[in-house]
Amino acid sequence: MSADPIIRLEKVAKSYGGINALEEADFELFPGEIHALAGENGAGKSTLCKLIAGVIAPTAGAVWIDGRQVTLSAPKDASRLGISMVYQETSLVPQLTVAQNMVLGRERMFNSVRKVRNAARQVLQRLNFKVDPSQLAGSLSTAKRQMVEIARAVLNEARVIILDEPTAALTPEETDHLFDLMKSLQRSGVAMIFISHALEEALNHADRISVLRNGRLTVTGPARDFDRNRLISSMIGSELKQDTSAAKAVRAVHSALPVLRVENIRMGSMVNNMSFSVFPGQVTGIAGLIGSGRSEVAKVIMGHTKRNFGGGRIWFEGREVRYNVPAQAIADGIAYVSEDRKFDGFFETMSIADNIGLGWLAKFGRRRRLAPLSRMRQISQDWEKRLSIRCTDVDQLVLHLSGGNQQKVVIAKSLAQEPKLVIFDEPTRGVDVGAIAEIRQIVRNFAESGAGVILISSYLPEILDLSDRILVAKSGTIVAEFARNEATAERILHAAIH
Ligand SMILES: Nc1ncnc2c1ncn2[C@@H]1O[C@H](COP(=O)(O)OP(=O)(O)OP(=O)(O)O)[C@@H](O)[C@H]1O
Ligand SMILES: [Mg+2]
Repeated sequence: MSADPIIRLEKVAKSYGGINALEEADFELFPGEIHALAGENGAGKSTLCKLIAGVIAPTAGAVWIDGRQVTLSAPKDASRLGISMVYQETSLVPQLTVAQNMVLGRERMFNSVRKVRNAARQVLQRLNFKVDPSQLAGSLSTAKRQMVEIARAVLNEARVIILDEPTAALTPEETDHLFDLMKSLQRSGVAMIFISHALEEALNHADRISVLRNGRLTVTGPARDFDRNRLISSMIGSELKQDTSAAKAVRAVHSALPVLRVENIRMGSMVNNMSFSVFPGQVTGIAGLIGSGRSEVAKVIMGHTKRNFGGGRIWFEGREVRYNVPAQAIADGIAYVSEDRKFDGFFETMSIADNIGLGWLAKFGRRRRLAPLSRMRQISQDWEKRLSIRCTDVDQLVLHLSGGNQQKVVIAKSLAQEPKLVIFDEPTRGVDVGAIAEIRQIVRNFAESGAGVILISSYLPEILDLSDRILVAKSGTIVAEFARNEATAERILHAAIH
């Protein structure tokens, strides 16, 4: 590591109306360094990154780049100095193509659409990202949108690339590939900051780790000086209490009658004759690789994707149903915690209270006018406490919450519907270790109260830990089913792949 940092922050602070998102942070980034940021939801990680990327301006302190003090008043100031950021919530313009997004703000350097497309294609190929440059950004999966943002930074010839939770929406293979890519960028001198709630990623792939807690940068050191326990205790300021779920016995099926049954569901090329049942009082886990049709079948049940619906039958509480819009499913008592909160999880320009309140109102369906509105605020406050949503109060806009806390609002909004069946699609994506334990507890309690739960997760330990039954999806069908006590990671993976 060379002696001079590219970036140096000196006592940098950011406050929002008296709330300190970041306090007096001293931070250095050296050329060719991979630097991980760890910390709980709301600790200030994204804030630190946005200050470096010129997205927000500090309320105090000094920023030095290449030894010169600078004022970054817009992302283009940072980008001119070679600093690019890949955001936690994607920043692509959905109506533009991949290639147009990649050159956004620098179109003038390319004098034809074809040049733009070729430049984009070259970078995407070099990075081994299978994304078509002429596709609209809005039609891409979360993982692919992330790839486009990384490719944009590489196309910008950035010297510093900041990645805010880049692996949250990636498969294990895509994650490995990303870290290989980061190592190769590192060899060409690029410095990188990445945020991750997967502690192993920081421990295994970073040169140095900085930990934030409550807006304070509490410790920075070489990754080899950390292990999981030290990292957790510096994040939360104490030891994490042991998760006792694994010791739980399998919950018995309450009755032989399923709360939900789907038969031979087909949708486009993603879902091929999928059939399964979900019983009340149990967590039914659906494991499988990305693209195995798990989220798609959830969307079919919810009435989210009418267009490609290819047939099949759905029974909810013994009655055959076919929803045309999610509102109908919600009014019947089905809730869906989407994997993609930015697109269909919440209304970001509304407050926490209004979002949770909307969820609660939805359960009244067409009798909404009869809802006792005076209780709405109390209900939001109860959820805010139950999920430890970090905020000033429930009137705060969701837009102003950290990513993990936004995810908690999505969950609260769905559960406030008091659904009889809830579909959790990657519920702990982007939330910190402490909140993961809380959310898992909520999933379990919810099943214990007699409701049906579908848990879709790409993280096998989560499926194994929470589910009473585990279904394995592959190429749009259910190929295997295990009871909790017969399921192992090896058996599930074998079924998912072979
Ligand atoms: N625009 C804003 N207005 C008010 N408060 C904000 C704003 N942006 C962030 N905050 C607050 O600053 C704190 C730090 O947020 P930040 O996004 O940096 O957290 P984080 O460490 O990235 O968390 P996560 O892991 O959940 O993404 C949070 O309490 C958040 O609510
Ligand atoms: Mg964040």
